[in-house]
Amino acid sequence: VCTHTYTLIYEGKSKRVYVKNRDELILEFKDEVTARDGALRSFIRGKGIINARVSAYFFSVLNKKGIDTHFLDYDGARKMAVKKLRMLPLEVIVRNYAYGSQLKRIPLLKPLQELNPPIVEFHYKDDSLHDPLIIVDDIINSGIATHEELNFIIKTSLRINDILREVFSEAKLKLIDFKIEFGRDRDNKLILADEISGDTFRVLDDNGKHLDKEVFRRTGDPKLLIDAYIRLCEKLGIKVDDIDFHG
Ligand code: ATP
Ligand code: TYD
Repeated sequence: VCTHTYTLIYEGKSKRVYVKNRDELILEFKDEVTARDGALRSFIRGKGIINARVSAYFFSVLNKKGIDTHFLDYDGARKMAVKKLRMLPLEVIVRNYAYGSQLKRIPLLKPLQELNPPIVEFHYKDDSLHDPLIIVDDIINSGIATHEELNFIIKTSLRINDILREVFSEAKLKLIDFKIEFGRDRDNKLILADEISGDTFRVLDDNGKHLDKEVFRRTGDPKLLIDAYIRLCEKLGIKVDDIDFHG
């Protein structure tokens, strides 16, 4: 998927978005990593390819399991063709164990305390407000989504959680939490979008080590992060030996 013929319509913190045609976009995964609201920022060679590859892997698994995703095609490097959607301004977070912002909000919970059943949490996507938690009635009353759509999103997110947990447990990894996003297609159908990578989920190996962006949030060290991402790929059986990490 060659991007110089495509028009760039958006550049975010971790991806560039290009128009491919009326119905399709190209997502290009960047080598940049940011954390703590942009206070930590680094360039990590190979990170974009790894995250594109991990995302393509999970979207393919989910498609096969009957989840509607935006994923169409992967170029083997840092670009993926996706269905163009109208995104809901929501981050949907699924939690299996208490961690991160949830512990900050409710310090009564113990770190890594099991949440059974898993929790589905919504955040309103607005950087100037720091993506605050939003309750269901606010989502409905503000017209972001209907009651029925939210029920569908909750049901689908829990199904996605089951599928991801199964894949991770086969790789001897524990899924703590993850963030997903949904958008509407032409027929207003809700489709899973954006990415599923070490930037958007937290997983622990059997030594309790993070193989996700938490490594960077804690240390700010890009080298440690790429090592964790390479180990993540090895565990999942995703090949990385063709990637040039030093260039
Ligand atoms: P954040 O990290 O808070 O999500 P960002 O805008 O910096 O914000 P990026 O991942 O860099 O995030 O940008 C990708 C953008 O593309 C996001 O706004 C995401 O919602 C959007 N997007 C993802 N998939 C699709 C899709 N299929 N159709 C339309 N937009 C999409
Ligand atoms: P959360 O604990 O809410 O936030 P923080 O990372 O600030 O502690 O994160 C829950 C999961 O969602 C975690 O796997 C990281 C992911 N996530 C994103 O991918 N993007 C985001 O903007 C946020 C807030 C979380």
